[in-house]
Amino acid sequence: MMPGRGDATGAGSAQDHRKQEPARRLAVLISGRGSNLKALIDACADGRVNGRIVLVISNRPQAPGLAYARDAGIPHAVINHRQYADREAFDRALGDTLDEHQPDLIVLAGFMRVLTPGFVARFADRMVNIHPSLLPDFRGLDTHARALAAGVEHHGASVHFVTAELDGGPVIIQVRVPVRPGDSPETLAARVQAAEHRLYPAAVGLICSGRIHASGDTLWCDGKPMQQPLLLDPAPESTQPCAGTT
Ligand code: GRF
Repeated sequence: MMPGRGDATGAGSAQDHRKQEPARRLAVLISGRGSNLKALIDACADGRVNGRIVLVISNRPQAPGLAYARDAGIPHAVINHRQYADREAFDRALGDTLDEHQPDLIVLAGFMRVLTPGFVARFADRMVNIHPSLLPDFRGLDTHARALAAGVEHHGASVHFVTAELDGGPVIIQVRVPVRPGDSPETLAARVQAAEHRLYPAAVGLICSGRIHASGDTLWCDGKPMQQPLLLDPAPESTQPCAGTT
């Protein structure tokens, strides 16, 4: 637990918002396995997230995660980046398909494409990503191997709004996991991914309940600017909603 960090994930207030607000329209972008998509489908279904996934898009036709959308009866599409001349053309097609479904929030869940500044601007303050590290540490790829090589005691995952800076947008919430003796990149990845499946629904739930929103590089929680990311699983004595933001 870091000083001043708190938990805004208290079910009480999120549920209060759920009673009043219509479910937010979510679009989820994937490239592969889709385990975070599955976690979000489950969280929407059981009411932890006041949202409805209206579209899943994969840039890879063979992405196993598409099966989760199919099984849940969620509209899904493949927009294969290989069929476009350049990044701009792919991002235009992606953006046009998204706009047809009018999402309130675009959720990148293992979407392995670098997005153009134009696309990021088009969906500014409406797009989040999950990254497998405690940002700002270990931006980019191979985060688990790099965390082990660096000898850190804790690793984790972060959910952030997407800005033009790669893995650099404002961080909403993080989860920490211990690095254990004898960990390999694979064992560490499995521990982080299990935590991600709680973290992403918590983050999306906060946005869908209207408690958190972004305005450029500033995040707002319960009407106040956030000074630092929230932490999932904080120490019990500091479970003030959005503590650290006052
Ligand atoms: C996750 O580890 C996420 O942090 C990263 O890509 C992975 C996606 O996994 N951005 P999955 O496709 O959701 O199973």
